[in-house]
Amino acid sequence: MINKLIYASAAARVNIIGEHTDYNGGLVLPTNTAIFTRVTASPRDDRVLQVRSSTLDETESFILDDLHPGETGTWIEYVKGVAAGLIDAGIKLRGAELLIDSDIPLGAGLSSSASLELSVAKALLGIAGESISDTDLALLCQQAEHNYAGVQCGIMDQYSLACAQYGKALLLDCRSLQTQQVPLPADIALVLTDSGVRHSLTDGEYNNRAEECAAAVELLAESVPGVASLRDLSLDALETNKASLNEVLYRRCRHVVTEIQRVQDTFAALGDNDLQKVGSLLNACHESLRDDYAVSCTELDVLVECSNSSKRVLGSRMVGAGFGGCVLSVCRKVDALTAAADIQASYAAASGSVPWQHLVAPAHPARLENE
Ligand code: GLA
Repeated sequence: MINKLIYASAAARVNIIGEHTDYNGGLVLPTNTAIFTRVTASPRDDRVLQVRSSTLDETESFILDDLHPGETGTWIEYVKGVAAGLIDAGIKLRGAELLIDSDIPLGAGLSSSASLELSVAKALLGIAGESISDTDLALLCQQAEHNYAGVQCGIMDQYSLACAQYGKALLLDCRSLQTQQVPLPADIALVLTDSGVRHSLTDGEYNNRAEECAAAVELLAESVPGVASLRDLSLDALETNKASLNEVLYRRCRHVVTEIQRVQDTFAALGDNDLQKVGSLLNACHESLRDDYAVSCTELDVLVECSNSSKRVLGSRMVGAGFGGCVLSVCRKVDALTAAADIQASYAAASGSVPWQHLVAPAHPARLENE
């Protein structure tokens, strides 16, 4: 019987590049940053999980033996989904009280929901006195999001938060789940600036993009042999078979295919310490997300322009699923604070309010703090 308090935490993920490629079996290149969801847990003698979010000032509870997906449509679904996944994996969960607080801006493209899932999973495992491999935990948390929150997300967020090592970027092949952990160049700084616009992944646009990609694969499979996902499609094959798709589906495919190439190019540029090149790849990524994938919005486009108007910024793009949230800018460390101030002043002048900012800093993978 564990009678101490359990402390667990998970960071936020910042995707350097590779947006909307994960659920297409493609490549992504995220890193974690030092803003955290923290969970404090204490065991109960019954089968109730009572969960308080001090961030939202809300308390919810449910019984571990009576879990059904999607009833409330609120944040508690993520917690229920994680508990259900752990029970299905054979973990003997115990009743507990959880207190959750978070510094991660919600719905801002920094994977606040995956961070909630991973930190809760670590806390519940801590209370149960059991463990699961980090890769299995990432997959379990992704299922929680599919089954309980109704978002057909890819694996990037959960995998990054569970597995990306301190200060490293994670090159993840979302088809094979093979990874490479790479240190970031000593000279690089990454600045996040919040547009202030909020999306909800549960409002349908995200699932809609995933469905468009699946529909395109089905159409292309008739003429291009061996295409089981957009990962299998070359730009040449897409151009040759353009006539099988309508304009919208063609553009969705062009984003995914070119974005996978940009991940490879960014990985190489980081290895060469070519930050100028990284910046231009981020700019190209934003244009593709805006024009072909249609997941940007006016405020994000304005923020990217404001950011790039600073001569210290090497490139910028919207980050995460889109429709709002943060812009990521790359610059040299020596310029980081001035670049951040330039961006903040420029966007404050354009939008009328001073945006939240954060300089990406190394963070550990999701963990129990008292392990
Ligand atoms: C969200 C999803 C991820 C990924 C990104 C877009 O963060 O949870 O799986 O698809 O959007 O790249």
